[in-house]
Amino acid sequence: MFLDSLEHDDLATRNPQLATRSTRSTRSMKEEKIISGFSKLSKREKIKWLVKNFFKDPENVMRELMSFWHEDESQQRVMDGFSENTISNYYLPYSVAPNFVINGKTYVVPMVIEESSVVAAASASAKFWMKRGGFKAEVIGTKKVGQVHFSWSGDIEKLRQLFPLLEEKLRKDTAGITHNMDKRGGGVLDIDLVDMTHLEADYYQLKATFETCDSMGANFINSVLESFGNTLLAFVATHSDFTEKERELSVIMSILSNYTPECLVRASVECPIADLGNFPAGMTAETFAKKFHKAVRIAHIDPHRATTHNKGIFNGIDAVVLATANDFRAIEACGHTYASRDGQYRSLSHCTIDDGVFKFWIDLPLAVGTVGGLTKLHPIAKRSLELLGNPSARELMMVIVATGLAQNFGALRSLTTTGIQKGHMKMHLMNILNQFEANDDEKLFITQYFKTNELTHSAVIAALNKLRVSNGT
Ligand code: MEV
Repeated sequence: MFLDSLEHDDLATRNPQLATRSTRSTRSMKEEKIISGFSKLSKREKIKWLVKNFFKDPENVMRELMSFWHEDESQQRVMDGFSENTISNYYLPYSVAPNFVINGKTYVVPMVIEESSVVAAASASAKFWMKRGGFKAEVIGTKKVGQVHFSWSGDIEKLRQLFPLLEEKLRKDTAGITHNMDKRGGGVLDIDLVDMTHLEADYYQLKATFETCDSMGANFINSVLESFGNTLLAFVATHSDFTEKERELSVIMSILSNYTPECLVRASVECPIADLGNFPAGMTAETFAKKFHKAVRIAHIDPHRATTHNKGIFNGIDAVVLATANDFRAIEACGHTYASRDGQYRSLSHCTIDDGVFKFWIDLPLAVGTVGGLTKLHPIAKRSLELLGNPSARELMMVIVATGLAQNFGALRSLTTTGIQKGHMKMHLMNILNQFEANDDEKLFITQYFKTNELTHSAVIAALNKLRVSNGT
């Protein structure tokens, strides 16, 4: 047996305590689920412990998890290096959306996403706007932000007076870290002393801005900030202007901020209303434009709708961010903070109709990189960048934001005309058929059947059961 063949592997020899524990039937399940030294086990040992303790069908689960290991061991080692306690690989579809014309250049955009109809919608929107001048995009700024948060009960005026001297030291002490970035045209921009004591007693910040060129810059910024923290401590501890009491300063933490409102990119589309074309059920371009405009207004007014509206935007954004191995959590967190910048969560996109011209655009902060991080380490991310023509970080910002706008346009076009369920369920039909292991003939029959019948999850299952009964299968 598959598992039995592993009974005598090095798990028992290397970790007899673990082996005994996981097989002793008198122990409670709760106790079985606690383990020390898990990270030291081999991947095979980890899986073995997991399947024995958490799954009803250990042999099959073990086989299944191992079937997703990369057949090329060196590739697998690269994957394992990205995280800890890896036991297998988690697959997501890797898709492409062609026909994206951005600033006159055509792109095939790589997208990693599991939700059916997202890539179809992005592709349809790209094609729609390709015939109407394509997307215009511009980078408005590329500033990143970092903070040293500290507690101090000294005389802030004294520190303010001495700040030019402190700043000189902060820059000097980080020269070794910033040297290469400086050479590439980036580095530390401004450093400010921020008084936060109106919100929290004794709380101050060193707030710095950075230019990190083609890298997202997280490691660079955090290294600089940690050095700033040390310099600050040393500065107050040694400068003769400070009293004994003032020498006590506590650096709470030094970390970049994922909120980067000045690392901003804009994408827009526009055309005369008459050029928008025809819409389902005889809807005129004029009616469509008005409904679309109203839909965007609603997302500005109502946070419930704004959340779903922006989620649709991030369907596109995250998919490209993932495909290029950028940090989608940072991008999401930043985007949602930006959407709330006036105190209410609102739509990230905007629409106007002026003088018969329909205009739709988005401004979004996007801190991404095309060098560093996993961008060139992840084999598929590397291919994504190649597919995009090895863009600079600025160019990638424009591709990503245009994809978000395309996604939002596609969603709103469906919502304000046919509704999304028709297209969505059509895409989902194959998932349901695959889940119930339908063969090719069954798939053909059921797909035909639902061209003229209402498509729901339960209706597909009922139709498949009926077909199988009538076929005697
Ligand atoms: C679904 O993933 C995204 C939409 O709900 C977005 C929207 O409602 O605008 C269709």
